Amino acid sequence: MPRLIEENGVKVDTQGCVSTPKKNEIMYNPDMVTNRSIIICALAAYKEMGWCINPDLRCLDALGATGIAGLAWARMFPKAQVTVNDPYTAASERIRENTSLNNLEAEVCNMDVSVLLHQRPFDFVFLDCYGSSVQYLDAVFRNVPKNGVVAITSTDDAALYGKASDVTLRNYGGHIIKTFFAKELAARLILASVVRSAAKCNKGIEVLCCVALKSFITVIIRVIRGPSAANECVRKIRQLLHCCMCEDRVFYPLSAYPIENPYSLLSCDCRRQSSGKLAVILGPVWCDEIFHPAFCEAMVRIAHTLHLPPRVTSLLQMIVSESRCEGLRGEDLHLKDKENKLSGDEELEGERDKEDDYTSGGEGGGGRGGTAAIPSSEDMFDMPLPKKMKVEPQMRTPSFYFNLHRHSPKGHDLGKMSKIVEHVQRAGFKASRTHFDSEAIRTNATLAQFNQLLLEFNRVT
Ligand SMILES: C[S@@+](CC[C@H](N)C(=O)[O-])C[C@H]1O[C@@H](n2cnc3c(N)ncnc32)[C@H](O)[C@@H]1O
Ligand SMILES: [Zn+2]
Repeated sequence: MPRLIEENGVKVDTQGCVSTPKKNEIMYNPDMVTNRSIIICALAAYKEMGWCINPDLRCLDALGATGIAGLAWARMFPKAQVTVNDPYTAASERIRENTSLNNLEAEVCNMDVSVLLHQRPFDFVFLDCYGSSVQYLDAVFRNVPKNGVVAITSTDDAALYGKASDVTLRNYGGHIIKTFFAKELAARLILASVVRSAAKCNKGIEVLCCVALKSFITVIIRVIRGPSAANECVRKIRQLLHCCMCEDRVFYPLSAYPIENPYSLLSCDCRRQSSGKLAVILGPVWCDEIFHPAFCEAMVRIAHTLHLPPRVTSLLQMIVSESRCEGLRGEDLHLKDKENKLSGDEELEGERDKEDDYTSGGEGGGGRGGTAAIPSSEDMFDMPLPKKMKVEPQMRTPSFYFNLHRHSPKGHDLGKMSKIVEHVQRAGFKASRTHFDSEAIRTNATLAQFNQLLLEFNRVT
């Protein structure tokens, strides 16, 4: 690595820096550039939304290392008051040097981040943790003002992905096992801890964006002050019932009473096929929205305007599409049919007629939290629904996704992802791809319905 590197228009001296610090080393990890770019977009989107209630936008890069993140904000938003902190003296000295090197204005602190956060408020806080964020969370919410935005990056994979259950329990107060929807589950586990810390300060949160790539998970939230916001949010921390046989899952309802037959919450019938302990209780995790579509759209617009690398813009674009997770409306179906007729795609014609029949009829239905007007899947596939299927609260973006390797019939061609998304939408469900897993589909169809749709898709293609 050259000594002087440039990122997002800022030059940084990286002499002696390491990407995995042990002790007394300054950290610089070039792989985290995507994350730092996302944080720039989040800060710009926060400005654009006009949420900040203070005339000065006070921004804190709380765990600064070389200062590369906070200094990019100082360059791009000269009117913002940027503070970059690191408790390690060599790091804070390096931040000072890098500030001068770029002729930028930024306050540099050399404090324990929790002490700094207890001393004064910041409107925008970025906690870029090497490992877990949990030890800072209570301090974050002590002084954060109404509408303040907090971005938290975590890299404690072992705890988040169920490889160190003691650490998961200690740090996050929950239980996680390996699943095919691990990344979103990890983001929701972090959010549950964030909510608990905020609630202790009589604050609630609104989740703006979650991003999980190979090397990090970042959650971005907005603060809503007041005990009722706090109450509302803590009620959205729930356990997740997970079938270990087929990976169907469902959030436990909020109830003070024990659930009589928890298996009836699931859409699968694994329980009927075999007895024993088939399901586990995971979490508790955050069970509400994890994207704010307008905020995510602002982020992608800004990424284009700032000419950020294509991997950043395409990642954000994907997040926007999954945050919308749309179904097809009547006129879209009509258009699609026209397009398909024009493209001479004859072989699917018979099936489409059949699909048109069931997409044009009926009210309500649509599976877990579905809003589209469709008949039940019984009509669609001659498949009985499980006896007691509980409907999850209405979600703008359905929670979780199904990995096609895990769920599709053998030998399925993943090249057809967009066609499968369309097929699921045609059946009246919301569906999209997800940035969490390039081989998965987010949908409000239950696993039972999704499996039927995949079988059907395979028959007609
Ligand atoms: C992941 S690095 C930050 C990387 C940096 N944001 C970047 O983009 O290159 C985490 C930093 O947190 C600092 N740190 C560790 N414990 C801290 C604490 N209690 N308060 C503030 N900073 C801390 C370390 O010195 C380290 O520089
Ligand atoms: Zn099952």
